[in-house]
Amino acid sequence: MQGVSRNFFALAIIYAVCGMALGLHMAISQDHTEMPVHAHAMVAGWLTSAVFAVFYHLFPAARETRLATIHFWLTALSGTGLLVGLYFVLAGNTAVEPLVAICSILFFAAMLLFSIIALPVLRKG
Ligand code: HEM
Ligand code: HEM
Repeated sequence: MQGVSRNFFALAIIYAVCGMALGLHMAISQDHTEMPVHAHAMVAGWLTSAVFAVFYHLFPAARETRLATIHFWLTALSGTGLLVGLYFVLAGNTAVEPLVAICSILFFAAMLLFSIIALPVLRKG
């Protein structure tokens, strides 16, 4: 794995370690307040980033474009902001809600960008 593909897989592993640590903390403390942060770290973080990593590994031409680099950084920064912000919102700090809203929209924009990158590649086969 190289470039954007390797970056996405490293990001996926960081999400998995942080998300599972939070899951364990929730289970041990029997306080599930942060469940949406755990759920999104695992599925939107670990699983989705791993899918991106495999896609860019399978299609090397796609990962060498500037758009792929933008896709990685937009996903990584918005996803991190979304999850860290949501953690604080669920802990009662509602002042960071605008950050969570902006990061959510950017996270969605990153997925739209991925569709622009991936669909033509898939159409070509
Ligand atoms: C160390 C391993 C893990 C622990 C201790 C753990 C713990 C938990 C706990 C305590 C909940 C809250 C359940 C509730 O409040 O109803 C939860 C929910 C959830 N977990 Fe984990 N988890 C682990 C690994 C994973 C993994 C590997 C994934 C996915 C790849 C995952 C995905 C989810 C999802 C999607 C939910 C939300 C389920 C729902 O909507 O009811 N978890 N987990
Ligand atoms: C723009 C990004 C996203 C936003 C704003 C968002 C928002 C939400 C909201 C508001 C809920 C309901 C939470 C609740 O009832 O407590 C939810 C649940 C859930 N979402 Fe997302 N989501 C996003 C992306 C994703 C992605 C990409 C995935 C999976 C790949 C995902 C998987 C889930 C799952 C498994 C649940 C149920 C677990 C839970 O209740 O926390 N979400 N999401």
